[in-house]
Amino acid sequence: MAYSTYQNLIGGEWVAARGGKTVLNLNPANSDDVVGAFPSSTAEDVDLAVKAARKAFTTWRLVPAPRRAEVLLRAGIRLQERKEHFAREMTREMGKVLAETRGDVQEAIDEAFYVAGEGRRLFGVTTPSELGNKFAMSVRMPVGVVGLITPWNFPMAIPSWKLFPALVAGNTCVIKPALDTPLSTYNLVQTLVDAGLPPGVVNIVCGTGPDVGAALVEHPEVRAISFTGSSAVGSLVGQRAAATFKAVSLEMGGKNAQIVMDDANLDLALDGALWGAFGTTGQRCTATSRILLQKGIAAEFTEKLVERAAKLRVGDGLDESVEVGPQINAQQLETSARYLAIALDEGAEILTGGRALADGTYARGTFFEPTVLGGVKPDMRIAREEIFGPVVALLEFDTFDEAIGMANSIDYGLSTAIYTKDVNRAFAAIRDLESGITYINAPTIGAEVHLPFGGVKHTGNGHREGLGALEFFTTWKAVYVDYSDKLQRAQIDNAE
Ligand code: UN1
Repeated sequence: MAYSTYQNLIGGEWVAARGGKTVLNLNPANSDDVVGAFPSSTAEDVDLAVKAARKAFTTWRLVPAPRRAEVLLRAGIRLQERKEHFAREMTREMGKVLAETRGDVQEAIDEAFYVAGEGRRLFGVTTPSELGNKFAMSVRMPVGVVGLITPWNFPMAIPSWKLFPALVAGNTCVIKPALDTPLSTYNLVQTLVDAGLPPGVVNIVCGTGPDVGAALVEHPEVRAISFTGSSAVGSLVGQRAAATFKAVSLEMGGKNAQIVMDDANLDLALDGALWGAFGTTGQRCTATSRILLQKGIAAEFTEKLVERAAKLRVGDGLDESVEVGPQINAQQLETSARYLAIALDEGAEILTGGRALADGTYARGTFFEPTVLGGVKPDMRIAREEIFGPVVALLEFDTFDEAIGMANSIDYGLSTAIYTKDVNRAFAAIRDLESGITYINAPTIGAEVHLPFGGVKHTGNGHREGLGALEFFTTWKAVYVDYSDKLQRAQIDNAE
């Protein structure tokens, strides 16, 4: 089958990896369908890209921020025009259903329009000086060359969360997309180029984490790294980046809980649970992977959830009637299967699903049945570890306090939902849940781009995307203008 060969983007030129190697990007619903060949790059390619970014920085940083923002605005409009095409290409490389890939492109559009507005804000602070005839203010400066390492589950949205704020702030970028889904990053960056982004401002280097990611993290001229991926890899990124004192933003795993209280609207809670657990085939860091049920509604909720989960249509995401696409690759499929074995070993019960699908139309893809596990206890591994597949664990509790304790009893802290009609409980939950995102009567997935996105504990290292990204992609400069025409000594001449 004919397919295109893609190259790295370095200094505005499309170039093959110096080593000449490529790797195939396959459709996870059908491995006979080759989406394209992409470069398998090395540290040498990273070095060339960083040098190009460094050169572009000398001029991009001087372009007024409102002008930089206009590139993003134009890119957002172009993304709107190409939304359907990009969504289809994304489903082909990533697997999630078309409604969701349209949403992924939409998230990049939202981000473009949101950040374009920031070009006329980028606010600093002016404040009185303690000395007379002296003016004090602070301005945001770009950081320099930033390295962006992005995952496969939101192949356009997450690159946009990082690229757009980095660019409006005047940084230049080297982005390493996930090897499973590089095409969507190419589509995004090509859109930026078409919208007038100058050469070298964004560079793409495609390759593996150990080859390209590590070289970016260790490169002395890269000033900041923004990473989204697993906590295991994030920990390595943070440790290695520390050697050259880089700023590091880490967005990592989750084990998100949906709490359902006895007084909840059960049908609403069921809709939320199905969408949160099986949307994107459970492959979101915000996915619902635990459902905590108050005992009064547990039996009824479980029965209805199992019935509806069993009916979900699994298949190729390009088929509009399909609700759950494949897992991204054989390794993720294997992880789901491995956790099912662990669940059984720990004494949990499979209420529906539990198997990889390999017959008939599923034969060439990496499909796993939507799976509900019952009888799960908080100390079991399946209640604590991220699976990143269509697998959800049901746990039961008696009291509200017990539910909050259970929700908080894990290492992660990204997104938590609670379904209740009791406004007092809702607000207590907002206060007490240890998670960066809390939903009342809505599922754990579905964050909007202009709010802070990120989590606590092993989910992150304190930074936020969305509202908060500019904090990461800028550095403060304090400016004092003394117009007294004499030496004024702070802390001395104004004492008493
Ligand atoms: C992720 O899972 O890595 O909040 C990002 C959501 C999406 C983003 C998820 N807007 O579910």
